[in-house]
Amino acid sequence: MSSPIDATQTAAWKQLLQLKEDFSLNLREAFAEDPERTNRFTFTAGDLFVDLSKNLINDDVLAALVALGEEVGLEARRDAMFAGEKINVTENRAVLHTALRAPADAVIEVDGHNVVPDVHETLDRVFEFADKVRSGEWTGVTGKRIETVVNIGIGGSDLGPVMVYESLKHYLQKGLTCRFISNIDPTDAHEKTADLNPETTLFIVDSKTFTTLETLTNARLARTWLLDNLVASGAIEDEDASRKEAIAKHFVAVSTALDKVEEFGIDPQNAFGFWDWVGGRYSVDSAIGTAVVVAIGPERFREFLAGFRAVDEHFKNTPLAANVPALMGLLNIWYSNFFDAQSHVVLPYAQCLHRFPAYLQQLTMESNGKSVRYDGSDVTTTTGEIFWGEPGTNGQHAFYQLIHQGTRLIPADFIAFANPAYVVKDGEADVHELFLSNFFAQTAALAFGKTADEVRAEGTPENIVPARVFPGNRPTTSIMAPRLSPSTVGQLIALYEHITFTEGTVWGIDSFDQWGVELGKQLAKQVTPAVGGDEAALAKQDQSTQSLVRYYRAMRR
Ligand code: F6P
Repeated sequence: MSSPIDATQTAAWKQLLQLKEDFSLNLREAFAEDPERTNRFTFTAGDLFVDLSKNLINDDVLAALVALGEEVGLEARRDAMFAGEKINVTENRAVLHTALRAPADAVIEVDGHNVVPDVHETLDRVFEFADKVRSGEWTGVTGKRIETVVNIGIGGSDLGPVMVYESLKHYLQKGLTCRFISNIDPTDAHEKTADLNPETTLFIVDSKTFTTLETLTNARLARTWLLDNLVASGAIEDEDASRKEAIAKHFVAVSTALDKVEEFGIDPQNAFGFWDWVGGRYSVDSAIGTAVVVAIGPERFREFLAGFRAVDEHFKNTPLAANVPALMGLLNIWYSNFFDAQSHVVLPYAQCLHRFPAYLQQLTMESNGKSVRYDGSDVTTTTGEIFWGEPGTNGQHAFYQLIHQGTRLIPADFIAFANPAYVVKDGEADVHELFLSNFFAQTAALAFGKTADEVRAEGTPENIVPARVFPGNRPTTSIMAPRLSPSTVGQLIALYEHITFTEGTVWGIDSFDQWGVELGKQLAKQVTPAVGGDEAALAKQDQSTQSLVRYYRAMRR
């Protein structure tokens, strides 16, 4: 693999530096002067209606950003990804989450092997399993219908499933709910199982590697909880064959390491595979989403996959000048590298999307939080954005103050849906309209602000005027869709996957490895004996760690 093009050495980058230096765009004036601004800067991708007009851009900036994408070879790298080339060089892997939603007749080869039939074969098995659970054909060991599915996983094996489940809760089958255990904090497993009936509970252990400490520990805790409770209540005999049968009826697994699943004691019949060319944070549309399939059903999951596909097709086939993920990724470069924006806030006006910012944190920050490029050389500019957010309107009453009047520039993505999950009236008022009015109002307030004269005109005492001025010119992107459906959730995920890819390409980094999470894992293993009381192991730790462990040991009762 050749070295990445250094974005900072391109003509487009130099032009952007110049544009930034001369930049004096005022959004109030830009809107007043140009009635076509919104039309020109509004784009669609699938069902997503994306208004970029309240960003700090003009035609020259947008053209230079598109030129940057062209100069760094964004289209060629995108095509290489879709074609199954091994662009994840540090792990020598293809990057083919897009194959997970490819139509059955597509041909996508990895090392000469068409992976699409494998994807569909696994999907069919997951669908068959989900149908059995949903219909009651699959029962627990005592013949009772499954009522609760507990997904055990962490990182990409948790954040995607839980986010999609929460987003699509209004599609659940009555009498069937999911829970998610992720943290090795024993509170998590305890609280999520304490009130469950083991006879009606099914665990799905999700782990790409099937080596993750948290997940395997929680899976063992769940197994012990299940068997102890079944034996204690007399539901099963206290002997090995009964235990084995109980595990077979109450545990399934999803992994790329099916041998390790079997070692753990889960019947290979009850395991669904995926492949090393799917990164954990890109895996919710693989069998890792099995809990979601059970929750919403195969038909809805097909719609979810079709949503991804619509945005994949858009990203693959649309010229950069109208390519929504590419433009949004390039805009993020504009703010990160030319305005020194440190963070990026995502504000879904949909309570069901409350885990979406957390999901995006792994997607974007594990992908692009890198200091070296994919050829091992140092990056040539700042990389990675800090993603954060909360649903509106809650965030309005918490941190919007800083976005409106603080000293930092925080580009914001606002997301909203025309139709609510539930139509609710407050007297005559449609509550969704009250909700969306806030979405519309906030982006306008951020863009256009409020001048001192406007504040004065309201009769505000002069000494308070400065505190009540809103500077405006705070950039926002508004994303709207008809409704929060399986399809639009898939579209949103694919949108941000490709935004992340675009940024990674400009920075020349491998957005698909995550070596930065390894050191902490190794050190945790080393320190565990010290925490357990091994003085020799403790002596090997640094002084601060020794002090903290000693404090822990002194306080632990
Ligand atoms: O530690 C980070 C990570 O490797 C993520 O990339 C991944 O999503 C998560 O851990 C869980 O890994 P696994 O699915 O292999 O258990």
